[in-house]
Amino acid sequence: MLALHLNPQPCPNRRLQTRPPRPRHAVACDSGAGLSAGDKSPAPPPSAALGRIRRLVLTPDGRSKLNPTPDRDFYAFPRFVKHVDEGFLKELTKLYLERIPEGGDVFDLMSSWVSHLPEEVPYRRVVGHGLNAQELARNPRLESFFVKDLNREQELALESCSFDAVVCTVSVQYLQWPEKVFAEVLRVLKPGGVCIISFSDRMFYEKAIAAWRDGTTYSRTQLVVQYFQCVEGFTQPEVIRRLPRQESRSVLQSIASLLGYSRSDPFCAVVAYRNFKPI
Ligand SMILES: C[S@@+](CC[C@H](N)C(=O)[O-])C[C@H]1O[C@@H](n2cnc3c(N)ncnc32)[C@H](O)[C@@H]1O
Repeated sequence: MLALHLNPQPCPNRRLQTRPPRPRHAVACDSGAGLSAGDKSPAPPPSAALGRIRRLVLTPDGRSKLNPTPDRDFYAFPRFVKHVDEGFLKELTKLYLERIPEGGDVFDLMSSWVSHLPEEVPYRRVVGHGLNAQELARNPRLESFFVKDLNREQELALESCSFDAVVCTVSVQYLQWPEKVFAEVLRVLKPGGVCIISFSDRMFYEKAIAAWRDGTTYSRTQLVVQYFQCVEGFTQPEVIRRLPRQESRSVLQSIASLLGYSRSDPFCAVVAYRNFKPI
């Protein structure tokens, strides 16, 4: 029986942390407790279950990519481009404004040279992660960043319970071990902290996992919902889909759209919180 368990560090309920972050690695351990009906071992105490991976969402085929070369090679050259259109980014920034507490600690997972956080809102600290240091160095919102290929190793060298928000923009489709990455996200979130995963239908096709590539908007949304649900300790994920605002289009854009020459990127986000207590 397979159970993956990234050791969550119990943490007090608090909004802001005053100590500087200390790197701390999650520990993977093999605990099958509570996984199957045939298991006679006693159920673990509730706090021990926090962060446990209940089941794997993806099959080995679902994790595969058309281009199996190391992701770091693919991202070796900086791409100073925006990966989705302004309508999508407006919706995203609005969602961040609604859900991320001002003055909080924010972790931008799989980030690049642009930040989608609302410019006018001060945060205590924004930490970035990605695969290209040149891109991350240009990101004006990042106080610090680190480079790590999450398809090789999923542990984040970040202190447990240290972030009010974790965001991941148009990148979740590249994760081959999302279950372990989401368990790490839970670990680094403070109780009550929010995780916002956003995506559209654009992707680097050769680098997206098969389960994403071969899916539809609906099935991709369900995948992200399951990534949250497979980790003990998240609230029920909330799905947000928004169509781009029509009034923000110029006359030319509207005509192009009518003629079928332009389309807007659909906005999808799945949001869940770290529970204050195991349920
Ligand atoms: C389409 S870009 C999106 C970047 C950024 N979130 C944004 O909104 O502009 C995809 C990002 O996923 C990250 N990424 C892809 N594969 C990765 C991997 N194996 N490990 C860690 N990050 C990865 C890269 O840093 C890349 O910048």
